[in-house]
Amino acid sequence: MEPFVRFHDQHPPAAAVSLSEELLAGLASTPKFTSPKFLYDRRGSELFDAICRQPEYYPTRTEEAILSAATAEIAEVVGPHAALIELGSGASRKVRLLLEALRPACYLGVDISRDFLLESTRQLASDYPWLEVHAACADFTCPMAWPEGFGGERPVAFFPGSSIGNFTPDEAEGFLRGLAELLPVGGGLLIGVDLIKDRAVLDAAYNDAAGVTAAFNLNLLERLRHEFDADVEPRHFSHRAFYNERDSRIEMHLVSRCDQSIRVAGERIRFTEGESLHTENSYKYSIDGFQCLAACAGFEPRAQWTDPDALFCIHYLERGG
Ligand code: AVI
Repeated sequence: MEPFVRFHDQHPPAAAVSLSEELLAGLASTPKFTSPKFLYDRRGSELFDAICRQPEYYPTRTEEAILSAATAEIAEVVGPHAALIELGSGASRKVRLLLEALRPACYLGVDISRDFLLESTRQLASDYPWLEVHAACADFTCPMAWPEGFGGERPVAFFPGSSIGNFTPDEAEGFLRGLAELLPVGGGLLIGVDLIKDRAVLDAAYNDAAGVTAAFNLNLLERLRHEFDADVEPRHFSHRAFYNERDSRIEMHLVSRCDQSIRVAGERIRFTEGESLHTENSYKYSIDGFQCLAACAGFEPRAQWTDPDALFCIHYLERGG
Protein backbone atom coordinates (compact mmCIF):
# COMPACT_ATOMS: atom_id res chain seq x y z
CA MET A 1 0.00 0.00 0.00
CA GLU A 2 1.22 3.55 -0.87
CA PRO A 3 2.27 5.39 2.29
CA PHE A 4 -0.33 8.05 3.05
CA VAL A 5 0.80 11.67 3.35
CA ARG A 6 -1.67 14.57 3.72
CA PHE A 7 -0.23 17.04 1.25
CA HIS A 8 -0.93 20.77 1.55
CA ASP A 9 0.28 22.96 -1.29
CA GLN A 10 0.69 26.43 0.14
CA HIS A 11 1.95 27.75 -3.20
CA PRO A 12 5.12 29.52 -2.12
CA PRO A 13 4.59 33.09 -3.37
CA ALA A 14 6.46 33.98 -6.54
CA ALA A 15 9.31 36.25 -5.49
CA ALA A 16 8.53 39.96 -5.89
CA VAL A 17 11.96 40.39 -7.46
CA SER A 18 13.15 37.82 -10.00
CA LEU A 19 16.22 35.74 -9.21
CA SER A 20 18.27 37.50 -11.90
CA GLU A 21 17.30 40.93 -10.58
CA GLU A 22 18.28 39.87 -7.08
CA LEU A 23 21.56 38.43 -8.35
CA LEU A 24 22.43 41.52 -10.40
CA ALA A 25 21.61 43.88 -7.52
CA GLY A 26 24.15 42.05 -5.31
CA LEU A 27 26.77 41.97 -8.09
CA ALA A 28 26.33 45.72 -8.66
CA SER A 29 26.88 46.50 -4.95
CA THR A 30 30.14 47.45 -3.29
CA PRO A 31 31.34 45.09 -1.91
CA LYS A 32 29.75 42.49 -4.19
CA PHE A 33 27.56 39.82 -2.57
CA THR A 34 25.06 37.09 -3.42
CA SER A 35 22.38 35.53 -1.17
CA PRO A 36 23.44 32.11 0.22
CA LYS A 37 20.37 30.58 -1.48
CA PHE A 38 22.26 30.79 -4.81
CA LEU A 39 24.64 28.11 -3.48
CA TYR A 40 21.86 25.51 -3.47
CA ASP A 41 21.11 24.25 -6.94
CA ARG A 42 20.98 20.46 -7.30
CA ARG A 43 24.78 20.10 -7.40
CA GLY A 44 25.16 22.60 -4.55
CA SER A 45 22.79 20.54 -2.37
CA GLU A 46 24.78 17.37 -3.16
CA LEU A 47 28.01 19.14 -2.28
CA PHE A 48 26.48 20.41 0.96
CA ASP A 49 25.57 16.80 1.87
CA ALA A 50 29.20 15.86 1.16
CA ILE A 51 30.43 18.76 3.37
CA CYS A 52 28.39 17.27 6.23
CA ARG A 53 30.49 14.09 5.96
CA GLN A 54 33.89 15.85 6.04
CA PRO A 55 35.94 15.21 9.19
CA GLU A 56 36.53 18.95 9.75
CA TYR A 57 32.82 19.87 9.46
CA TYR A 58 31.74 19.06 13.03
CA PRO A 59 28.17 20.60 13.15
CA THR A 60 26.21 17.74 11.57
CA ARG A 61 27.70 14.83 13.47
CA THR A 62 27.87 16.82 16.72
CA GLU A 63 24.22 17.83 16.56
CA GLU A 64 23.28 14.23 15.82
CA ALA A 65 25.35 12.99 18.78
CA ILE A 66 23.73 15.55 21.10
CA LEU A 67 20.27 14.49 19.92
CA SER A 68 21.05 10.79 20.35
CA ALA A 69 22.34 11.34 23.87
CA ALA A 70 19.51 13.66 24.92
CA THR A 71 16.41 12.14 23.34
CA ALA A 72 15.00 10.90 26.66
CA GLU A 73 15.51 14.31 28.29
CA ILE A 74 14.08 16.09 25.27
CA ALA A 75 11.01 13.84 25.38
CA GLU A 76 10.56 14.69 29.04
CA VAL A 77 10.79 18.48 28.54
CA VAL A 78 8.60 18.47 25.43
CA GLY A 79 6.00 16.16 26.98
CA PRO A 80 3.53 13.82 25.27
CA HIS A 81 1.15 14.45 22.35
CA ALA A 82 3.28 17.07 20.63
CA ALA A 83 2.64 17.93 17.00
CA LEU A 84 6.13 17.95 15.49
CA ILE A 85 6.87 20.40 12.68
CA GLU A 86 10.15 20.04 10.80
CA LEU A 87 11.21 23.25 9.06
CA GLY A 88 13.20 22.44 5.94
CA SER A 89 12.09 18.83 5.96
CA GLY A 90 15.13 16.76 5.09
CA ALA A 91 16.05 13.18 4.57
CA SER A 92 17.95 13.62 7.81
CA ARG A 93 18.35 11.04 10.52
CA LYS A 94 17.92 13.76 13.12
CA VAL A 95 14.14 13.93 12.93
CA ARG A 96 13.94 10.15 13.10
CA LEU A 97 15.71 10.18 16.46
CA LEU A 98 13.07 12.64 17.68
CA LEU A 99 10.10 10.76 16.24
CA GLU A 100 11.20 7.59 17.95
CA ALA A 101 11.70 9.31 21.32
CA LEU A 102 8.75 11.73 21.28
CA ARG A 103 6.19 9.54 19.55
CA PRO A 104 4.33 12.72 18.55
CA ALA A 105 0.63 12.74 17.69
CA CYS A 106 1.45 13.95 14.19
CA TYR A 107 4.28 15.25 12.02
CA LEU A 108 4.39 18.07 9.49
CA GLY A 109 7.30 18.49 7.09
CA VAL A 110 7.62 21.95 5.56
CA ASP A 111 9.83 22.54 2.54
CA ILE A 112 9.88 24.72 -0.54
CA SER A 113 11.02 21.86 -2.77
CA ARG A 114 7.87 19.88 -3.61
CA ASP A 115 9.50 16.74 -5.00
CA PHE A 116 12.03 16.47 -2.22
CA LEU A 117 9.32 17.04 0.39
CA LEU A 118 7.04 14.37 -1.05
CA GLU A 119 9.86 11.87 -1.27
CA SER A 120 11.06 12.43 2.31
CA THR A 121 7.58 12.51 3.92
CA ARG A 122 6.45 9.37 2.01
CA GLN A 123 9.51 7.59 3.34
CA LEU A 124 8.65 8.68 6.90
CA ALA A 125 5.02 7.56 6.49
CA SER A 126 6.22 4.17 5.30
CA ASP A 127 8.82 3.78 8.08
CA TYR A 128 6.47 4.98 10.87
CA PRO A 129 3.00 3.60 10.04
CA TRP A 130 1.67 4.78 13.45
CA LEU A 131 2.43 8.42 12.57
CA GLU A 132 -0.03 10.86 10.95
CA VAL A 133 2.20 12.54 8.35
CA HIS A 134 1.49 15.93 6.76
CA ALA A 135 3.58 17.76 4.17
CA ALA A 136 3.31 21.48 3.40
CA CYS A 137 5.01 22.88 0.34
CA ALA A 138 5.76 26.39 1.58
CA ASP A 139 8.54 28.91 2.09
CA PHE A 140 8.83 28.88 5.86
CA THR A 141 10.98 32.03 5.83
CA CYS A 142 7.83 33.94 4.75
CA PRO A 143 4.63 34.25 6.82
CA MET A 144 2.67 30.98 6.63
CA ALA A 145 -0.12 29.18 8.50
CA TRP A 146 -0.25 25.60 9.74
CA PRO A 147 -2.33 23.64 7.25
CA GLU A 148 -5.92 22.79 8.02
CA GLY A 149 -6.39 19.46 9.76
CA PHE A 150 -2.93 19.54 11.27
CA GLY A 151 -2.97 19.77 15.02
CA GLY A 152 -2.11 18.27 18.32
CA GLU A 153 -2.03 19.40 21.89
CA ARG A 154 1.16 21.36 21.43
CA PRO A 155 2.99 22.28 18.25
CA VAL A 156 6.75 21.92 18.52
CA ALA A 157 8.89 23.20 15.65
CA PHE A 158 12.23 21.55 14.89
CA PHE A 159 14.84 23.64 13.06
CA PRO A 160 18.16 21.75 13.09
CA GLY A 161 21.53 22.22 11.41
CA SER A 162 22.26 25.79 12.57
CA SER A 163 20.51 27.02 9.43
CA ILE A 164 19.52 30.00 11.61
CA GLY A 165 23.21 30.98 11.38
CA ASN A 166 22.86 31.77 7.67
CA PHE A 167 20.50 34.65 8.52
CA THR A 168 21.88 37.95 9.85
CA PRO A 169 21.00 38.38 13.54
CA ASP A 170 18.25 40.85 12.54
CA GLU A 171 16.83 38.40 10.02
CA ALA A 172 17.09 35.59 12.59
CA GLU A 173 15.12 37.65 15.11
CA GLY A 174 12.47 38.47 12.49
CA PHE A 175 12.22 34.81 11.51
CA LEU A 176 11.87 33.71 15.15
CA ARG A 177 9.24 36.37 15.79
CA GLY A 178 7.22 35.11 12.83
CA LEU A 179 7.48 31.58 14.19
CA ALA A 180 6.48 32.67 17.71
CA GLU A 181 3.34 34.27 16.23
CA LEU A 182 2.41 30.93 14.67
CA LEU A 183 2.71 29.06 17.96
CA PRO A 184 0.30 29.14 20.89
CA VAL A 185 1.67 30.11 24.31
CA GLY A 186 3.65 27.07 25.48
CA GLY A 187 4.33 25.93 21.90
CA GLY A 188 7.93 24.82 21.50
CA LEU A 189 10.96 25.30 19.32
CA LEU A 190 13.85 22.83 19.26
CA ILE A 191 16.66 24.54 17.39
CA GLY A 192 20.28 23.63 16.63
CA VAL A 193 22.74 26.52 16.87
CA ASP A 194 26.48 26.47 16.24
CA LEU A 195 28.55 27.85 19.12
CA ILE A 196 31.36 30.44 19.14
CA LYS A 197 34.64 28.58 19.55
CA ASP A 198 38.34 28.50 18.79
CA ARG A 199 38.89 30.08 15.39
CA ALA A 200 41.18 27.25 14.21
CA VAL A 201 38.30 24.78 14.54
CA LEU A 202 35.95 27.13 12.67
CA ASP A 203 38.43 27.96 9.90
CA ALA A 204 39.14 24.25 9.34
CA ALA A 205 35.43 23.39 9.16
CA TYR A 206 34.97 25.75 6.18
CA ASN A 207 38.32 24.88 4.53
CA ASP A 208 38.23 21.07 4.54
CA ALA A 209 41.34 19.33 3.22
CA ALA A 210 39.38 17.46 0.53
CA GLY A 211 38.27 20.79 -0.96
CA VAL A 212 34.54 19.99 -0.77
CA THR A 213 33.59 23.38 0.73
CA ALA A 214 35.70 25.08 -1.95
CA ALA A 215 33.84 23.09 -4.63
CA PHE A 216 30.50 24.04 -3.01
CA ASN A 217 31.43 27.74 -3.10
CA LEU A 218 32.85 27.63 -6.65
CA ASN A 219 29.76 25.75 -7.85
CA LEU A 220 27.94 29.09 -7.57
CA LEU A 221 29.88 30.15 -10.68
CA GLU A 222 28.81 26.98 -12.52
CA ARG A 223 25.24 27.86 -11.62
CA LEU A 224 25.75 31.35 -13.05
CA ARG A 225 26.98 29.75 -16.29
CA HIS A 226 24.04 27.33 -16.58
CA GLU A 227 21.13 29.38 -15.28
CA PHE A 228 22.13 33.00 -15.81
CA ASP A 229 23.96 32.82 -19.13
CA ALA A 230 27.27 33.81 -17.56
CA ASP A 231 30.59 33.48 -19.37
CA VAL A 232 32.50 33.21 -16.09
CA GLU A 233 35.50 30.88 -15.81
CA PRO A 234 35.39 29.23 -12.32
CA ARG A 235 39.17 28.71 -12.34
CA HIS A 236 39.60 32.48 -12.41
CA PHE A 237 38.24 32.63 -8.84
CA SER A 238 39.35 31.04 -5.59
CA HIS A 239 37.49 29.97 -2.46
CA ARG A 240 38.13 31.92 0.74
CA ALA A 241 36.49 31.26 4.12
CA PHE A 242 37.55 32.74 7.44
CA TYR A 243 36.18 33.50 10.89
CA ASN A 244 35.35 37.18 11.43
CA GLU A 245 35.72 37.43 15.18
CA ARG A 246 34.19 40.91 15.49
CA ASP A 247 30.89 39.76 13.95
CA SER A 248 31.07 36.15 15.23
CA ARG A 249 30.61 34.74 11.77
CA ILE A 250 32.32 32.64 9.15
CA GLU A 251 32.45 34.56 5.89
CA MET A 252 32.67 32.74 2.59
CA HIS A 253 33.96 34.59 -0.48
CA LEU A 254 34.98 33.95 -4.08
CA VAL A 255 38.11 35.97 -4.80
CA SER A 256 38.97 37.05 -8.33
CA ARG A 257 42.41 35.80 -9.40
CA CYS A 258 42.78 38.52 -12.06
CA ASP A 259 41.21 41.66 -13.49
CA GLN A 260 38.24 40.36 -15.47
CA SER A 261 34.91 41.32 -16.89
CA ILE A 262 32.12 38.74 -16.98
CA ARG A 263 28.66 38.71 -18.50
CA VAL A 264 25.82 37.65 -16.16
CA ALA A 265 22.14 37.78 -17.14
CA GLY A 266 22.92 40.24 -19.90
CA GLU A 267 25.00 42.63 -17.75
CA ARG A 268 28.79 43.18 -17.66
CA ILE A 269 30.32 42.84 -14.20
CA ARG A 270 33.94 43.86 -13.61
CA PHE A 271 36.25 42.37 -11.00
CA THR A 272 39.70 43.64 -10.15
CA GLU A 273 42.38 41.17 -9.10
CA GLY A 274 41.82 40.26 -5.42
CA GLU A 275 38.27 41.63 -5.38
CA SER A 276 35.83 39.37 -3.62
CA LEU A 277 32.26 38.25 -4.02
CA HIS A 278 30.76 37.55 -0.57
CA THR A 279 28.66 34.39 -0.91
CA GLU A 280 27.64 33.36 2.64
CA ASN A 281 27.77 34.21 6.34
CA SER A 282 27.45 31.59 9.03
CA TYR A 283 26.86 33.25 12.40
CA LYS A 284 27.97 31.58 15.61
CA TYR A 285 26.33 32.31 18.98
CA SER A 286 27.07 31.85 22.66
CA ILE A 287 24.29 30.08 24.57
CA ASP A 288 23.29 33.32 26.32
CA GLY A 289 23.61 35.36 23.14
CA PHE A 290 21.18 33.10 21.30
CA GLN A 291 18.74 32.98 24.20
CA CYS A 292 18.72 36.81 24.31
CA LEU A 293 17.98 36.97 20.58
CA ALA A 294 15.19 34.40 20.98
CA ALA A 295 13.78 36.30 24.00
CA CYS A 296 13.50 39.46 21.86
CA ALA A 297 11.43 37.36 19.45
CA GLY A 298 9.07 36.09 22.18
CA PHE A 299 10.67 32.77 23.20
CA GLU A 300 11.63 31.71 26.73
CA PRO A 301 14.52 29.27 27.22
CA ARG A 302 13.46 25.97 28.80
CA ALA A 303 16.51 23.72 28.34
CA GLN A 304 19.65 23.31 26.28
CA TRP A 305 22.05 20.51 25.50
CA THR A 306 25.66 20.68 24.26
CA ASP A 307 28.43 18.19 23.48
CA PRO A 308 31.43 17.68 25.83
CA ASP A 309 33.62 19.98 23.68
CA ALA A 310 30.98 22.75 23.60
CA LEU A 311 30.97 22.87 19.80
CA PHE A 312 27.22 22.96 19.23
CA CYS A 313 24.01 23.59 21.17
CA ILE A 314 20.42 22.41 20.88
CA HIS A 315 18.01 24.82 22.58
CA TYR A 316 14.45 24.07 23.65
CA LEU A 317 12.46 27.30 23.81
CA GLU A 318 8.79 27.94 24.48
CA ARG A 319 6.64 30.75 23.27
CA GLY A 320 6.06 33.04 26.23
CA GLY A 321 2.70 34.49 27.29
C1 AVI B 1 23.49 25.18 5.92
N1 AVI B 1 24.42 25.90 6.81
C2 AVI B 1 24.03 25.79 8.21
C3 AVI B 1 25.84 25.60 6.56
C4 AVI B 1 26.73 26.42 7.52
O1 AVI B 1 27.60 25.81 8.16
O2 AVI B 1 26.54 27.62 7.63
C5 AVI B 1 26.24 25.92 5.11
C6 AVI B 1 27.70 25.72 4.83
N2 AVI B 1 28.45 26.54 4.16
C7 AVI B 1 29.66 26.07 4.06
N3 AVI B 1 29.73 24.94 4.74
C8 AVI B 1 28.49 24.68 5.22
